[in-house]
Amino acid sequence: MSRRMRRLRKPKLRDMVSETRLSIKDMIMPIFVDERADSPVPIASMPGQCRQSLSTIAEEAGSIEDLGISAVLLFGLPARKDEAGSAASDPHGIIQRSVEAIKEVSDLVVITDLCLCEYTSHGHCGLVKGMEVLNDETLPILGEVAVSQARAGADVVAPSGMMDHMVLAIRSALDLEGLEETAILSYAAKYASFYYGPFREAAESAFAFGDRRGYQMDPANSDQALWEVQLDIEEGADMVMVKPAMPYLDIVRRVKDRFGMPTAAYQVSGEYSMILSAAERGWINGPGAMREALTSIKRAGADMIITYYAKEFAAQNA
Ligand code: PBG
Ligand code: ZN
Repeated sequence: MSRRMRRLRKPKLRDMVSETRLSIKDMIMPIFVDERADSPVPIASMPGQCRQSLSTIAEEAGSIEDLGISAVLLFGLPARKDEAGSAASDPHGIIQRSVEAIKEVSDLVVITDLCLCEYTSHGHCGLVKGMEVLNDETLPILGEVAVSQARAGADVVAPSGMMDHMVLAIRSALDLEGLEETAILSYAAKYASFYYGPFREAAESAFAFGDRRGYQMDPANSDQALWEVQLDIEEGADMVMVKPAMPYLDIVRRVKDRFGMPTAAYQVSGEYSMILSAAERGWINGPGAMREALTSIKRAGADMIITYYAKEFAAQNA
């Protein structure tokens, strides 16, 4: 008797024995909202993606919800930037008003990116002194931003700046204001990655000097990702994230196995644009390569995938 693996690879059978199933319910759609725009503006570095405006965000949210997507991740592009990124905590700021507009027309779970880099003139994720990105001085500001986003109606805040103790600062600030119900999705293991390139154009968050290696993780490290995640869980993170996704599938698997927490993986702008731009040139089958990438991320252990492809995936699988 010999085992023949091909017996289970016939059309209907192979679907029956599939170990990993992609579902639109696992996907979170990122949205950029630009305070200066009055109509959707295509993002050159990200095929098929646009920056929304305050006047179009509600309609966009409606069509995302109609496609069966349950959650969005919001990034705001403010009209004005300054040294301290003060527009980030403005109760009438771009992200706060966008949350209100989305909540008015939909039941989407609204997750807000919580960082200063889109709001600071220097583009770093924290306050800056000389060439240094300050940690502890940044924490109270992150708390204020969290409170303003939660008050606007955000269900989940997602700190992405990799400041030490940011989760504790945010949890304490939220609780102090009676916002105990607002959840935290921490960008716990966020690597200093070149795959963020297209995003920095999309969000206009390129930095004026240096790089982010002083606060984001070294791609060489794996054990360190577990410390990062453990600390964020101890500080009160409800969900944790690994970012980017596909170059770090080993980390996704270790984090999921070790902590058993709701685990998100972020298929970042570079991962997205590499596939879609190659597809535009006819060098790769775009939908096929995307499905394979998303399947691999889920197979590695991600419960949730943040992907710019969510809308397109939903449209294709409707
Ligand atoms: C900023 C932030 C970045 C991304 C999400 N939040 C860029 C960075 O850290 O430089 C990247 C997302 C993407 O590339 O899709 N804190
Ligand atoms: Zn940032």
